[in-house]
Amino acid sequence: MTEPAVRHPIFARAWDRLCGLMERELAVQRQELLAGLTGRVLEIGAGNGNNFEHYPATVDEVIALEPEPYLRGKAHEAATRAPVRVTVREGVAEALPVGDESFDAAIASRVLCTVRDQERALAELRRVVRPGAELRFLEHVRSPHARTAWLQERLDGSASGHGSAAAATAHATPWAP
Ligand SMILES: C[S@@+](CC[C@H](N)C(=O)[O-])C[C@H]1O[C@@H](n2cnc3c(N)ncnc32)[C@H](O)[C@@H]1O
Repeated sequence: MTEPAVRHPIFARAWDRLCGLMERELAVQRQELLAGLTGRVLEIGAGNGNNFEHYPATVDEVIALEPEPYLRGKAHEAATRAPVRVTVREGVAEALPVGDESFDAAIASRVLCTVRDQERALAELRRVVRPGAELRFLEHVRSPHARTAWLQERLDGSASGHGSAAAATAHATPWAP
């Protein structure tokens, strides 16, 4: 099945700027997320590649997928500065362009709120990691505060081009824009 293209030029540029402001705080979470990984790693929705500098040297290779063209360009730049080998490719989480059981770990960092079909994305992640591999998440949950939740839903919708999935995302850190 052909996946619709992911294009959200306004969000992409806004996210790139916002990351610059939030990165000091996020960097600690990124390091924690990636610590101890080994072997071949798949990262979905890599954005501008802000995780790349935090991969430990024990990782042999990262295949980083990013569907949005502007952010993918930024990710290509970040890959050149990464301490490990990072290959950036186009691809959506719902139809991963990689083989079965071909990764030692998979990373989803602030991505699942933007994918169109979370169940398919999770099934795809399960397909591509080898038995016993790790799936590591760094995702936000819907705020208990109505105004913040409203804002989250608007932002998630602008990132994906569809309605928000914030309410269905149930992992890790509370997120307040
Ligand atoms: C909020 S950003 C997070 C970027 C990066 N993972 C980080 O931690 O900084 C969400 C990313 O998911 C990407 N994305 C949107 N729809 C996607 C999909 N269906 N499959 C994979 N990635 C997607 C967006 O283009 C964007 O780069």
